[in-house]
Amino acid sequence: MGRHTVLDAEGRKRLQGILQRWGTEQGNVIPILQELQEAFGYVPQEAVREVAQALQVPESRFFGVATFYAQFYFSPRGRHIITACSGTACHVKGSERLVAALMRELHIPEGQDTSSDGEFTVQKVNCVGACSIAPVVIIDKEVKGKVSLQGLLRELKKLKGAKGKDG
Ligand code: FES
Repeated sequence: MGRHTVLDAEGRKRLQGILQRWGTEQGNVIPILQELQEAFGYVPQEAVREVAQALQVPESRFFGVATFYAQFYFSPRGRHIITACSGTACHVKGSERLVAALMRELHIPEGQDTSSDGEFTVQKVNCVGACSIAPVVIIDKEVKGKVSLQGLLRELKKLKGAKGKDG
């Protein structure tokens, strides 16, 4: 296997487009980050390096801004995003147990959020405003309430089954 880079021919083309739009002024850190994330699904470090060079702005400025805004991600996101609410009501109803089960089932190591096959990202958020149906889990934008451990594992199995039908 060769070294993985997001800046293959296709990636370079996307980066060029972004640079053409924004590459002349130094004040455009946020829109550039937004476009990078849109183009690549996350904010790749190697792309930031090139943009920073082109603009002659220190890389650290991009990362500083991106860290400040929670909307930016520095590593690839899974094809499926599972978001578990960990607000108070959901916590009381056992959301931690749900998250732990997901991490275990998907073999996601401590401190990481995405499965090694790139299929699933598990994230926690604060109260999503649906406390009356706690615990709440959002699977690919679909809000599920009163989620049981068994129900969640069933959903997971469905998603896993959906990926490799041809094998
Ligand atoms: S705490 Fe989970 S929806 Fe409010």
